[in-house]
Amino acid sequence: MPAERTLPVAGSNSTVLVFADADAAARAAADRIARVVAESVAARGKAILGLATGATPEKVYDDLAARVAAGTLSFRDATTYNLDEYYPIQPLDPLSYRAYMHRLLFSRVDLAANRAHVLDGTVPEEATAEHAAQFDRWIDADGGLDVQLLGIGRNGHIGFNEPSDLSVEGFAARSTLLIDLHPVTRADAVREFGSLEAVIPRALTMGVRQILGARTVVMLATGPKKAAIVAEALKGPVTAAVPASLLRTVADKVVWLLDEPAAAELG
Ligand code: PGA
Repeated sequence: MPAERTLPVAGSNSTVLVFADADAAARAAADRIARVVAESVAARGKAILGLATGATPEKVYDDLAARVAAGTLSFRDATTYNLDEYYPIQPLDPLSYRAYMHRLLFSRVDLAANRAHVLDGTVPEEATAEHAAQFDRWIDADGGLDVQLLGIGRNGHIGFNEPSDLSVEGFAARSTLLIDLHPVTRADAVREFGSLEAVIPRALTMGVRQILGARTVVMLATGPKKAAIVAEALKGPVTAAVPASLLRTVADKVVWLLDEPAAAELG
């Protein structure tokens, strides 16, 4: 699926591809992930994938599952690491990201269950730091991520790395951790949880270090609600206050896949 247009963004060497609609952008994301799987398996016998949840990537998973059903893609040699999980939450809770991934991808493809990693929302609080450190050690032992699929929150978060007053260097080096969700994130989660009071206010998230360390980053953003933050992340200052702006520090390996409404404020 060719991009409708490549958008040069002044002051940024990021690759920004704009598609006619969200389905075409999602198909392009699935194309890139499928390509990374094929190339990584051919080169190293394995593919290490960083995955995302939320509304935006649902169509990516539909597309990947369809390719597996058609026999043109296999996750046999893949290992996956998800960006984040609410804390605390049970994996069988339909609102958990473990349940989301099971529903949208894991139950539909030939991925080994013991190589589908989602941070565990049931570990005791005093064990979360060690669990997070272990998650990073597993990714490191796998040689890092071949590709990380990302969405962007309306506050610029990537994973649940919320806006921060850390330095860019400090934020870029941050490990996987337990965080408090930002008010904008909690407000957006009402869609899933039904009310603000019901939103689980904390989460475990892959840190920015692993995200920026991925060999390829696919940022997928669609719909008019993302237009302002996409423009801020690509054209505003590089700052931990807009987490996705840090993708510009590794711009040569990042592709932004947008639909027209999400690209509307890029000019
Ligand atoms: P959304 O979330 O796909 O549900 O908009 C994106 C994100 O918060 O990363």
